[in-house]
Amino acid sequence: MHNLATEPTLQATSEAPVVLVPRIELHAFCDNQQTGQLLQVAATDRRMSRAHVSIQLGGIPAAIQYYQTQPTPNVLVIETHSNREQVMAELMRLSEVCQADTKVVVLGHVNDVLLYRELIKAGVSEYLVAPVSPVSFIDSIANLYHDPKAAPLGRIVSFVGAKGGVGSSTIAHNIAWITSQKRNIDTIITDLDLAFGTAALNFNQDSTGGIVDALGQPDRVDSMLVERLMTKLGDKLSLLNGPGTVEREFNIEAHAIESILNVVRSSAPLVVVDVPNMWAPWIKQTLVNSDDIIITATPELPSLRNAKNLVDFLKSARANDRPPKLILNQVGVPKRPEISPADFAKALGVDPIAVVPHDPQSFGLAQGNGQMLFEVAPKAKATEALTEIAAIVVGQQKGTAAKPKSKSFLANLPIFSKKNK
Ligand SMILES: Nc1ncnc2c1ncn2[C@@H]1O[C@H](COP(=O)(O)OP(=O)(O)O)[C@@H](O)[C@H]1O
Ligand SMILES: [Mg+2]
Repeated sequence: MHNLATEPTLQATSEAPVVLVPRIELHAFCDNQQTGQLLQVAATDRRMSRAHVSIQLGGIPAAIQYYQTQPTPNVLVIETHSNREQVMAELMRLSEVCQADTKVVVLGHVNDVLLYRELIKAGVSEYLVAPVSPVSFIDSIANLYHDPKAAPLGRIVSFVGAKGGVGSSTIAHNIAWITSQKRNIDTIITDLDLAFGTAALNFNQDSTGGIVDALGQPDRVDSMLVERLMTKLGDKLSLLNGPGTVEREFNIEAHAIESILNVVRSSAPLVVVDVPNMWAPWIKQTLVNSDDIIITATPELPSLRNAKNLVDFLKSARANDRPPKLILNQVGVPKRPEISPADFAKALGVDPIAVVPHDPQSFGLAQGNGQMLFEVAPKAKATEALTEIAAIVVGQQKGTAAKPKSKSFLANLPIFSKKNK
């Protein structure tokens, strides 16, 4: 319903990654305008953009009327303000017009465990107590299609430079090394710069080009294939990358990268994506679908302009997510006129999470040796800054292992622990 498209102010509510909602048809019959607006926000969220969503007012009575003549969708969400007896009676009538394979989600206003039990017994897929946040609503819908026994999803953190050569890849590789080596978190680097990527070089490895095999058959990619295509860089660190040559050209489709990353993220709790400084549909989509985005910029005007454009685009494309983070790198190049970190932050409207000094000696040595900064210059200021960045990346890691299902009121009841459900 288009007249519901106002914009409530919303906070990003989820720490843990939310599974994407598949290409389903979802109809919602709301009982009030506010819920309609909230679902409208959810419908336009990146995680729900594959689904076809229609939102109407009128609650259960309107739904019953509507489905007299129309087939019911994959998911039917109905809001009701009624009490237990009324809800059960209304649902009985709805069930007469509802196809058996339609998943029904009831959005109620009473926190009533007996009602929940009766609803589930009657075949309702989920009971949510209003108000729900858009992200938790999306999470509930996604979970209708996500096998709860499947491996928990890893977080995708994308690193992108505001322009070429700012140090985005070097920082991404160092962060992945620190999280795996110093924090013991299984980390996978995915280097999407297929022809010119430096991840293998920086770790003193030959490029295997494994990701090209996956790109050729994106729908066949599973975790076994990904496992085979990756290069082991350490106990807890692996790399999926391109061949690092110009012998082949690559036609990259956004959906192919998306399916590969979806598999990769089921193999490790942290996926560091090295995104090349280019602009193409698949780059846009990869950034938009990341759990976090880290933009690296140098303190110069072109970097500032591009960072500003990126931040503006990402904030509007990801209205219910955390805003992108900024790293200022190569600060303090001798004789170079630079924009101060304070001015840069002010112009951008984003404070940097770290300011990394220009340190050609340490970075040059690391690059020459195919080692990480920590290994060649553990005491350098730049290494300290990278360690802080890793701490921030990891700080948002919490909640990844156990995916909270706190959307229904049941989560508050000890008897309904996850195991019992
Ligand atoms: N803070 C820094 N001081 C000095 N050199 C740096 C710094 N950060 C990165 N570099 C160097 O800059 C070069 C470009 O880095 P790279 O990570 O490939 O950039 P990008 O991925 O943004 O194109 C590399 O040689 C790297 O070692
Ligand atoms: Mg790069």
